[in-house]
Amino acid sequence: MCGIFAYLNYLTPKSRQEVLDLLVTGLKRLEYRGYDSTGVAIDSPDNENIVMVKRTGKVKVLEEAIQEHFSGGEYSKPVLTHVGIAHTRWATHGVPCERNSHPHRSDDGNGFVVVHNGIITNYNDVKTFLAKRGYEFESDTDTEVFAKLVHHLWKTHPTYSFRELVEQAILQVEGAFAIAVKSKYFPGECVASRRSSPLLVGIKTKTRLATDHIPILYGKDEKKLSPDQVLPRSESTSEFMPLEEKEVEYFFASDASAVIEHTNRVIYLEDDDVAAVRDGTLSIHRLKKSLDDPHAREITTLKMEIQQIMKGNYDYFMQKEIFEQPDSVVNTMRGRVRFDGNAIVLGGIKDYIPEIKRCRRLMLIGCGTSYHSAVATRQLLEELTELPVMVELASDFLDRNTPIFRDDVCFFISQSGETADTLMALRYCKQRGALIVGITNTVGSSICRESHCGVHINAGPEIGVASTKAYTSQFISLVMFALVMSEDRLSLQQRRLEILQALSNLADQIRAVLQLDSKVQELAKDLYQHKSLLIMGRGYNFATCLEGALKVKELTYMHSEGIMAGELKHGPLALVDDSMPVLMIVLRDPVYVKCMNALQQVTSRKGCPIIICEEGDEETKAFSSRHLEIPRTVDCLQGILTVIPMQLLSYHIAVLRGCDVDCPRNLAKSVTVE
Ligand code: G6P
Repeated sequence: MCGIFAYLNYLTPKSRQEVLDLLVTGLKRLEYRGYDSTGVAIDSPDNENIVMVKRTGKVKVLEEAIQEHFSGGEYSKPVLTHVGIAHTRWATHGVPCERNSHPHRSDDGNGFVVVHNGIITNYNDVKTFLAKRGYEFESDTDTEVFAKLVHHLWKTHPTYSFRELVEQAILQVEGAFAIAVKSKYFPGECVASRRSSPLLVGIKTKTRLATDHIPILYGKDEKKLSPDQVLPRSESTSEFMPLEEKEVEYFFASDASAVIEHTNRVIYLEDDDVAAVRDGTLSIHRLKKSLDDPHAREITTLKMEIQQIMKGNYDYFMQKEIFEQPDSVVNTMRGRVRFDGNAIVLGGIKDYIPEIKRCRRLMLIGCGTSYHSAVATRQLLEELTELPVMVELASDFLDRNTPIFRDDVCFFISQSGETADTLMALRYCKQRGALIVGITNTVGSSICRESHCGVHINAGPEIGVASTKAYTSQFISLVMFALVMSEDRLSLQQRRLEILQALSNLADQIRAVLQLDSKVQELAKDLYQHKSLLIMGRGYNFATCLEGALKVKELTYMHSEGIMAGELKHGPLALVDDSMPVLMIVLRDPVYVKCMNALQQVTSRKGCPIIICEEGDEETKAFSSRHLEIPRTVDCLQGILTVIPMQLLSYHIAVLRGCDVDCPRNLAKSVTVE
């Protein structure tokens, strides 16, 4: 989804050219989120105006336009204090084009310029309000109303500070958003806010900060309302203990990967926080005080390393992330699984385990790949917890107004921790009194912060839009949870040992599966010109079929379907003939005989499937000339080893078809709109 990056240097000389470079690099780091157009705004060389550059397409195109128009001369002279804002847009309202790209402006004179993520749902009402007051709109976006609303408030309330103007505008708009605003009337200032869409502030200073907290400021309404005012004015500040530094740089960004090369000190903003920088001072305000509000926002130190967000020797992030899995699965288990003592501790939920054991049922909720990790582990969770386990797609769960009870335990699985549907489902369940467990990869994300407890999957930053290593780490996190829940069940000890043993071998076995890469590439050459690929399996491997088909769709734009082999006779068999590509997963597990039945049904219809089977399984291999052999592991972990060939296959098909592997069309890494 859209990405925001803003940069403010205070008493830190930087030329406009350097600022533009910083903005472009920030946007490059956000590219993985998915976008279709870009834009930046900086001060004009005479400081009298704001100049904007916008382009449809990739950040590279924007970079070239900037190099062409804004290099040398005045642009290379250092300025002491400056604000630049930048944006990658993922079209929601209006097609991708320069006119609809951000920043959006308040008027011809570029008085206020705005970058925005999310959707302002009442933008039509605001637009009508402003149109009546003479504003003319130049884009099809919802965002433009915000810039014009701030301008309107500025005209009607000339004494308001920049922060107050933005606060007032925020009070008028509904929906989900993150926003950063710059103004030529308030040079050197930047105001940003969020509601249900992520935004953080990075802080870079020469010396360490005196405090690790930024106090939150509240106040009281002191001014009289004017007749044209849309809503009452927010509070003015009473206590004010801002973070004050001499030379300081601030970064406002949608996620940490855009700031990590500059600073590891960040503040994750909460919904309805208004962060404002004025005279180099950052302050955080809230419009209304609620009982559970903390007094301050903590400055967090990011653990992320810059190498983690670089491609290294790989051609694509997705490829790198697939090959990182021997390490990422170990990182998920690190400090949690003790193989010598067969003990597992999940620090983030251990205090809640007694409560979880008493629950009515477990609900696993997510979208896309995260949902598939729930499908993959459901059977083991049922077996080891002996509780009913419901697996839900967040969007459908919300559509159904699913009944939720106080004694339900609801797991929200999300790589980004920001997926709007999953977050809405979380809030829905929280309101109804359920215990909320977050399973996320992004420390500080909304799901992580709004959960009662949770497990960080610790897979490291995942940049490729198509999720790979996060899936295997989510899978393992849920397996670890199942193991924790069965710790004191005597009858399950043998099973637990078997799984723990298998977990200890997993990294090596993943390495062995990755060795199949060139074989998978050959298979991809057979498949890439086809229109469709059916992926069949059942039991523990059904999730691999769904996830494999999703990867193929996402990356290659080919049709692909994950088919439950048990359903083959109930329809899908009609698709099978000698020209339909089929891939079947047939492993030596409790459903082996049933899978073999399915395999025979396919081959007797002249289907020539690619088979994923266990190493040395001659009987199964005999059914086809094309097969991939994977090492044997315990049934409930097979899905980790079988999904890797599917990740590799979709990757190679995408490369052969000339698709953009890391940024597939029409997709976003973090879907922050419903
Ligand atoms: C988007 C991505 C998918 C991802 C899904 C859920 O649709 O394109 O790859 O699986 O969101 O994302 P989450 O961050 O919640 O795991």
